[in-house]
Amino acid sequence: MVKGAPIGVFDSGIGGLTVLDEIQQLLPHESLLYVADCGHIPYGEKSPAFILERSRRVAAFFREQGAKAFVIACNTATVAAAADLRLDFPDWPLVGMEPAVKPAAAATRSGVVGVLATTGTLQSAKFAALLDRFATDVKVITQPCPGLVELIESGDLNSPALRQLLQRYIEPLLNAGCDTIILGCTHYPFLKPLLAQMLPPSIILIDTGAAVARQLKRLLDERDLLADGKPEPAQFWTSGDVPHLRKILPTLWKYPGVVRSFGA
Ligand code: DGL
Repeated sequence: MVKGAPIGVFDSGIGGLTVLDEIQQLLPHESLLYVADCGHIPYGEKSPAFILERSRRVAAFFREQGAKAFVIACNTATVAAAADLRLDFPDWPLVGMEPAVKPAAAATRSGVVGVLATTGTLQSAKFAALLDRFATDVKVITQPCPGLVELIESGDLNSPALRQLLQRYIEPLLNAGCDTIILGCTHYPFLKPLLAQMLPPSIILIDTGAAVARQLKRLLDERDLLADGKPEPAQFWTSGDVPHLRKILPTLWKYPGVVRSFGA
């Protein structure tokens, strides 16, 4: 692997752009590749075997592109695929992500933490282990959010239908006394402006995009693989509708980028 090689970043759809943005800010010399498996959203309602199969296809594609590292910018795909991909490619730096239970447990004052995430993430053994490890002294209220990802993927970040659905999901958390809410799906940080209007100002929102970027930096640094030259513009692939991604990308990603079809 060479320093100037790109980094492959992957999500079921556009949610991972919230992570890509953190990577771009922390590592501005890196060339970034992004695959959005929009043709198969939502991962949150799919089987782990299906998600692993999709993740393997994306990993193979990034290997062909010469990617020096692989970021699974998706909580749901991380629980379904990260362990197997690490076995498939033991020497390839791989960063996955998980709901930020540890920082949330440290931040809460009420002792009640809410988690908004996909059904797949919340039902996983990995998430149960995370709670066993870091949430022993706090109460955790989990809320699966079916339907949210589909609305966000359509480019909707503020319609009445979206507000109504989000209200339904945050209400049980507020009623239970949560003062800290984990955004446990990479699509949800796009809803931060809306959540800021809908939640009391004292509520703390926590997501893991910045931590993932820092972990990526550490892994590359350890291997002397941090780029120091001029990066290529970001390249995007989608297994869904290319014109749709081209249309909504400028509202979600403020840098240049080319969008192509991901046929695998
Ligand atoms: N963005 C993904 C995550 O972080 C899931 C979205 C989906 O359900 O496809 O969990």
